[in-house]
Amino acid sequence: MKKVITYGTYDLLHEGHINLLRRAKELGDYLIVGVTSDSFDRGRGKLNVCNNVLERIEAVRRTGYADEIVIEDYVGQKIDDIQRYDVDTFAIGSDWEGKFDYLKEYCEVVYLPRTEGISSTMLRDEKQRIIRVGIAGCGSIARRFVPESSFVSGVTITGIYDTEPSAAESFVQNLNTGHIFDSYEALLEGVDAVYIATPHLSHYRLAKQAIVARKHVLCEIPLTLNREEAAELYALAEQNGVVLMEAHKTAHCPAFNHLMVMIKSGVIGEVVDVEASLSRLLPDKTRREFDATQAGGSLYESGSYPLLPIFRLLGTKYENLNLYSRMENGVDIFTKGVIRYPRAVCSFKLGLGVKTEGNLIISGTKGYAYVEAPWWKTDYFELRYEDQNQNKKFFYKWDGDGLRYEIQEWISCILNSRLTSSRLRRQESIAMAGVMQQFTERKNFIEI
Ligand code: CTP
Repeated sequence: MKKVITYGTYDLLHEGHINLLRRAKELGDYLIVGVTSDSFDRGRGKLNVCNNVLERIEAVRRTGYADEIVIEDYVGQKIDDIQRYDVDTFAIGSDWEGKFDYLKEYCEVVYLPRTEGISSTMLRDEKQRIIRVGIAGCGSIARRFVPESSFVSGVTITGIYDTEPSAAESFVQNLNTGHIFDSYEALLEGVDAVYIATPHLSHYRLAKQAIVARKHVLCEIPLTLNREEAAELYALAEQNGVVLMEAHKTAHCPAFNHLMVMIKSGVIGEVVDVEASLSRLLPDKTRREFDATQAGGSLYESGSYPLLPIFRLLGTKYENLNLYSRMENGVDIFTKGVIRYPRAVCSFKLGLGVKTEGNLIISGTKGYAYVEAPWWKTDYFELRYEDQNQNKKFFYKWDGDGLRYEIQEWISCILNSRLTSSRLRRQESIAMAGVMQQFTERKNFIEI
């Protein structure tokens, strides 16, 4: 019996897939079809797949050509499968010409003619509503947003606004995107959703204005520096039926989320301590980060990062928070926070003028999780135990600048009318603003 194997995502199954499966089947007597798992596709940066793995398997099964369907879940699996199933021929569409010649060591490799004029990508584009996004603020983070958005389906950047017209002009020229609007109001009129990447103190006003105009909002961290303002914005977004999301990269990081659910499911026992740190030495003291009038300082700048694992694992109802800061010209160049819960204690360190190890350690009654710096863009973590033989290492992929994950979740929430995301809950975002507010009010605050 001649066995043939072929692989694909088979999203929105189309004529091209059916032709390919028929031709592959004709090459032998028994056809095995490898369908990619959802996590495998996400891991290789394919974030826009519409059907889940069960739907895609069912679609392949219904073609009647597959004698066996397997799930492709890891790089290198093709070699394992070919050997395990004693495969004679590996077949794939001609768009992959030459890419699988390395399999010739194990079996015959055949590139079958691809059906012209159809692909899952085309169907996804036709099917999908495209969200017109405006960008407010043309700084460095907004520059990274544009290329990252190209990895997400259903989004197009149509408008740009900056209080500094020359910044908007160079942005549009360099990135070859969007149309410049000369006021924020005009920008809002021309788009469905807005990404706010302006200095911190303008976030509340711009987000509120957009929400009232019924535009979806993705706002850079920190959303606001005040608990009531954050709560008001979320309530307003709910009333207006729009998605408000804080652009918190770590909250959308696949590895970080996996770590959080593993810990929640008890792999290190009960969590009693979370230590998270982040530091970035910036020699240029004229930057906005050091300007007290623009809400500079390490807590406002990056406090949202360590607060995320703390709030995610222990909740937002802490008993007490003490802040210890080294101040310079009105901004904290270093802040250490200690948060006490009824049965846990957490701490975080943030530095703009002080350097420290930037790792995340979560200690539990059975073991601990160690995430090395820079943990806020986790691609690797370890679970460690008393018996070192039980230690486990986990590796993931963090693509590009990582903004694509938050953009994808934001667009998915908009397209599916999901007003909140479980990746960063409203109460977590509001509690983060509460911590910023405590610092502003210098409550439980000691200068060191
Ligand atoms: N295929 C084909 N003709 C097409 C599209 C796909 O022969 N018009 C083949 C591919 O070469 C591959 C298999 O179908 O062997 C599964 O491909 P897949 O990547 O799932 O489909 P695409 O439509 O190419 O998906 P995408 O647009 O997401 O890349």
